[in-house]
Amino acid sequence: MTTQTKSTTSKSDAVGVAHTRIEGVDKVTGAARYAAEIPFTELAHGWLVLSPVARGRVTAIDDEAVRALPGVLTVLHHQNAPRVKDDVVGALGRPDPIVEVFQHDRVPHAGWPVALVVAETPEQAREAAEALVVGYDEEPHDVAFYADRPGVYTPEEMEAVKGDLDAELAASAVVLDASYTTPEQHHGAMEPHAVTVRWEGGRLELFDSNQGSKWIADDLANLFSLDLSAVHVRSEHVGGAFGSKGLRAHHVAAVMAATELQRPVRVVLTRRQVFATTGYRSPTAQRVRLGADPDGRLRAFGHEHQNLTSNLREFVEGGAGFGRSMYDAVAHHTVNRVVPVDVATPTWMRAPGEAPGSFAVESALDELAEKLGMDPIALRARNEPSVGPVSGLPFSSRNLLGCFEEGARRFGWADRDPRPRVRREGRWLIGTGTAASTFPAGAAPSTASVTAEADGTFTVRITASDVGTGARTALTLIAADALDVTPERVRVRIADSDFGPAWVAGGSMGTRSWGWAVMAAARELRERLPLAPGEIPEEGITARTDTAELIAALAQKERYSYGAQFAEVAVDVATGEVRVRRLLGVFAAGRIINPLTARSQFTGGMTWGISMALHEEAVRDEASGGHVGADFAGYHVAANADVPDLQAEWIDDPDPDDPVGIKGIGEIGIVGTAAAIANAVWHATGVRHRDLPIRPDRVL
Ligand code: MOS
Repeated sequence: MTTQTKSTTSKSDAVGVAHTRIEGVDKVTGAARYAAEIPFTELAHGWLVLSPVARGRVTAIDDEAVRALPGVLTVLHHQNAPRVKDDVVGALGRPDPIVEVFQHDRVPHAGWPVALVVAETPEQAREAAEALVVGYDEEPHDVAFYADRPGVYTPEEMEAVKGDLDAELAASAVVLDASYTTPEQHHGAMEPHAVTVRWEGGRLELFDSNQGSKWIADDLANLFSLDLSAVHVRSEHVGGAFGSKGLRAHHVAAVMAATELQRPVRVVLTRRQVFATTGYRSPTAQRVRLGADPDGRLRAFGHEHQNLTSNLREFVEGGAGFGRSMYDAVAHHTVNRVVPVDVATPTWMRAPGEAPGSFAVESALDELAEKLGMDPIALRARNEPSVGPVSGLPFSSRNLLGCFEEGARRFGWADRDPRPRVRREGRWLIGTGTAASTFPAGAAPSTASVTAEADGTFTVRITASDVGTGARTALTLIAADALDVTPERVRVRIADSDFGPAWVAGGSMGTRSWGWAVMAAARELRERLPLAPGEIPEEGITARTDTAELIAALAQKERYSYGAQFAEVAVDVATGEVRVRRLLGVFAAGRIINPLTARSQFTGGMTWGISMALHEEAVRDEASGGHVGADFAGYHVAANADVPDLQAEWIDDPDPDDPVGIKGIGEIGIVGTAAAIANAVWHATGVRHRDLPIRPDRVL
């Protein structure tokens, strides 16, 4: 085949142009294989057995009877499982102790894995798992969550103070002091967690659904005291994750079983097991205190945010961080508190912190605007900071007001009658509301390689994870521009731990962190490329880079994306039903790589925001300590019919320090949405809703 290095001089301009997903056809035709779909000979199937008891000890596991059932290969539990290390630091912090499965007889919460039954077929494994008799010594448990409950504490570095909040509240002409709650919420990814494990050529191989294959590989290697190079994790396609797809119990149990049986073992979680064992967003109880001068200038900004955590591990949702960079005030006092109870540990879920935190703060600002007789956008503009309100650091760029301006224009905000409960259509009360969005714009070190192939194409390798965001496609466009070739000549290979360390699909930092590494590798490759055709050897020429130093050199700044969301709702006065008629988000979130998939990211987050406002609520039964209705019949999420008119737009906002101009768009879409809707419900009805979701029974 002839080489075509000359054409690297052609201009590509791929970034910024809508591009369908590279794997899109594979996905819609079923050719794309997910972790539970890859065929293996001799495949065995594991089924997790979870504790129905919320606290206590396992006293007996009668595995003899179950081992005699058809197809059963083994039953793993604390009396026979291999020991794992319990002091693993972890690539992203200490793994949740739920991954230390079958190590002891204690049951710290309902849904704790007590056994894995492995059989020839999933049906046999499930039947045997359900037949397994486990004896428990039950102890009293407590899963109740409410504001200021006994045991609440403030973890280290979770409080930020500037000035004297109480003094400024006392000096304020107008004061708002309001409490808000959000319920427990679940990720509900389309593809439930699943892993297939086998030993192959002396290496542990995982075909997995995760947010970072190298992260999973390294943590597993450490747990099982293996060489890092002895674990190989691939995660080619992932059907959603949203923070829940890190290392979990099923990975570890499957590794134990594959090791014992020396056969490939697959563990797929049911939807109920996903609810029970893979993390969730903690409920929150929040108090916001705002004090303002008559012109709306904030003197006092106070936000206390409380979430629950397990008795195993401290997890801080961190919602009080939202206001620290958002609004100027003479005094700031923001604090995140936690309280441990007998539940599974919560985890990151799309916009951890900002999603619940923004609901409280952006609702409170609307309430304050009402008290002041001010337009809610004008109130935000009046408190626009010139530097970080608490940190004093400069903003890398800040286009919040630009979002409000553009959003107000598109939405027709100027025509709004600010009085509540004045628009009515039959039995529907109509209202509009707005709220701000923000999310940190970070970057993390990653490694990448780019190979110039002898046939004139290029292969990019990076341990990125495409959790449905379109990351693979975005990286292809970034690489094409960096190499100055058309995207068709670039093949991006992702989600393979052998490609080396890279940031995970998380923190809205995936595409940015990976794109940076790909960009750097592509630049280096171009410097080394021969100009004449035919000079690339058979094995290609590879450039490999690590962005650790580049990212460490970034100046300390307040780095954020911004947005403004506008909602129009109709409230049925007869049934209490709230319908979102229109939802518009305008974002300033860095350079947009692929407008097609970026719009889906924004509208996906906003749809979830509708869900958060009106539907989502995991209910815990205090008597059993477990969930009620842990499935999509009991746990309601917004569907297409809930979203009649949904629009996401953006304004030009390239990040000044990123080589591509990216800020990250993964999470900001859900931030502020619930507040915009709650504010619209107030405008429609004249009633404030400070507890989510805004269910019909709460509206009536
Ligand atoms: Mo996300 S909650 O950063 O996966």
